[in-house]
Amino acid sequence: MNLKIRTLLAALAVLGWGCQIHYQTEKVNYKMASPSVREGKRLTMLVCGSCHYNLETKDFSGKKLEDSPKFLGKIYATNITQHPKQGAGEYTPGELAYLIRTGIGRTGRLMPFMHRPNMADADLDAIIAYLKSDDPAVRPSGRNPGKTRYSPIGRLGLSFTKVGEYRDAGIQKPKNDPVLLGKYLVDNLACFHCHSKSFTSLDVQQPERSKGFMGGGNKLRDAAGKKIKTPNLTPHATGIASWTQAELRRAVTEGVSKDNSVISYPMPLYPELTEAETSAIYAYLNTIPPIEHEIKR
Ligand code: HEC
Ligand code: HEC
Repeated sequence: MNLKIRTLLAALAVLGWGCQIHYQTEKVNYKMASPSVREGKRLTMLVCGSCHYNLETKDFSGKKLEDSPKFLGKIYATNITQHPKQGAGEYTPGELAYLIRTGIGRTGRLMPFMHRPNMADADLDAIIAYLKSDDPAVRPSGRNPGKTRYSPIGRLGLSFTKVGEYRDAGIQKPKNDPVLLGKYLVDNLACFHCHSKSFTSLDVQQPERSKGFMGGGNKLRDAAGKKIKTPNLTPHATGIASWTQAELRRAVTEGVSKDNSVISYPMPLYPELTEAETSAIYAYLNTIPPIEHEIKR
């Protein structure tokens, strides 16, 4: 390594350790309407499951996120069952709402990639009601999945992350317009986090402003630790222009691509998505600007 790079890395490390990544949290006055716990379970699987659901223990006791870039450090999705110490049992509904909308935890910790500033009130209510329900998958589990340790560069990255602002929003879920529902799902299921250019150039408030929106190329790691680039999902010949609605549905619910190959980790499976929801995603993807970007698998 040459001296310049070493000096730069040392400077970054010093900066990184010194960086402020704690925030003030506000107490929010959070009132739930009358949410459905059943719908809450479906949404929690869809929105939080790929990171927090543990397939071995069949509950939300968390796991290591193997796909995160190594230079950020070791990242573990927390146990979010109702265990008071290992889990999220001490979170009040208001604190959960604040975390999901802004990415800031009850102790002021910033947890990026997790916040959903545009989530509809009804979906937020349902998820919180589910996390507080007596479903076996959220009952207290003392399992410790491991503790996140960011590298200095990871901490530096965190310090530049735009924090969401809490909005007591009155956000409605689009119901009758498939394109708007598709847009809502691509935002809240975070398809655009992985399928755009990189995690560092996302705009979580206005997803379509993210660099290379849905054009693929973000570098992740597969289950074996091998680098993998995400495919282009824009309506271009190098994307999904030739895909049918049924092919897209099969890909996201069963993990099988157009050419019948298996789609590998870390692409999550979303078997809980209804036919109407996958066709809405399909309709929306066909309205976004096509990007020419050939991704080799
Ligand atoms: C992309 C992966 C990912 C998704 C999706 C995700 N989380 Fe997390 N979550 C994490 C990680 C990683 C941490 C731990 C971060 C850390 O330790 O700094 C975390 C931490 C938490 C915590 C613990 C906060 C604390 O104070 O320690 C809660 C509660 C939580 N998540 C709830 C949720 C809920 C609810 C959802 C769905 C609405 C969700 N998460 C979606 C990755 C994710
Ligand atoms: C955690 C990151 C991540 C998220 C979130 C994610 N994907 Fe993917 N997706 C991937 C990766 C990586 C691949 C490629 C896997 C491979 O090459 O085997 C992929 C593959 C695909 C494919 C197959 C494309 C092809 O050319 O074979 C489709 C379709 C797809 N994703 C759609 C979606 C949709 C729709 C969403 C949101 C509902 C989504 N993805 C969310 C990472 C992700």
